[in-house]
Amino acid sequence: MSHINSLDYEIFSAVRLWEESIVRKLTIVKLKFLENGKVLDLLDLLLKTVGSCFIWTMFCLAKYQLIQDRLRKEVKEKINSTPKSNTWEAISSMKFLDCVIKESLRLYPPAPAVERESIVDDVIGDYYIPKGTKLFLCLAVTHRLEKFWKDPLTFNPDRFMEEKNYDNFTFSPFGLGSSSCIGKKLALIEVKVIFTILVSAFRFEILPESEDVKLARYTVLQPDRDIFVKISPI
Ligand code: HEM
Repeated sequence: MSHINSLDYEIFSAVRLWEESIVRKLTIVKLKFLENGKVLDLLDLLLKTVGSCFIWTMFCLAKYQLIQDRLRKEVKEKINSTPKSNTWEAISSMKFLDCVIKESLRLYPPAPAVERESIVDDVIGDYYIPKGTKLFLCLAVTHRLEKFWKDPLTFNPDRFMEEKNYDNFTFSPFGLGSSSCIGKKLALIEVKVIFTILVSAFRFEILPESEDVKLARYTVLQPDRDIFVKISPI
């Protein structure tokens, strides 16, 4: 690791930052739940999905400096103009932060596919689907189709600033219908709080070896290797 030699900066892997700072805090919660002997699966899901969203949002912000600057400006303005006691109100009013997280979830949905089973014989397009067929709905693909998204591979939070011009089937990082995510609100507020704190205190820059990380499909979407980010206090 010869590149970690700067006195002014510390270089962490974004993955490690997540594991060390956030999971440690959540582990305390996890242990409490474990004492009750329940909901382990739920918390495991929470760590993995929110962790994935954290990693990919960090990747995007570290890669796109102008977007990071714009987000920092919004965060500082809203935090400074809202009484300390009302952080919730400040975070909820951060429109650009909301768009950044949505755009990260569009390009890098932590749960890239969901599974369903056909309960009747059916037809979808040209395909006959017999009852009992397992269907994988690949959200990550729908989120990148040119048919629905202009310049789909470009990280552009502004697409969510405009009036809503997509439907819920086109953008569904939390799934749809009766099995959709029950943790959506918790997940979003967690990620927003984390980035509000981080961008107001630090600048993130992607290191060259991490610029072209690829998607690795496990149950939860992860990068194919560690992402290295230079973090400097501001
Ligand atoms: C960014 C974070 C998260 C993402 C992207 C996400 C995504 C999803 C998706 C796509 C589904 C739907 C699966 C399907 O339709 O078959 C789902 C279901 C679920 N999620 Fe999340 N999730 C996140 C965070 C959380 C958190 C924090 C919790 C718990 C506190 C949670 C609990 C659940 C549960 C229990 C289900 C199953 C619901 C059911 O089958 O009735 N998720 N999630």
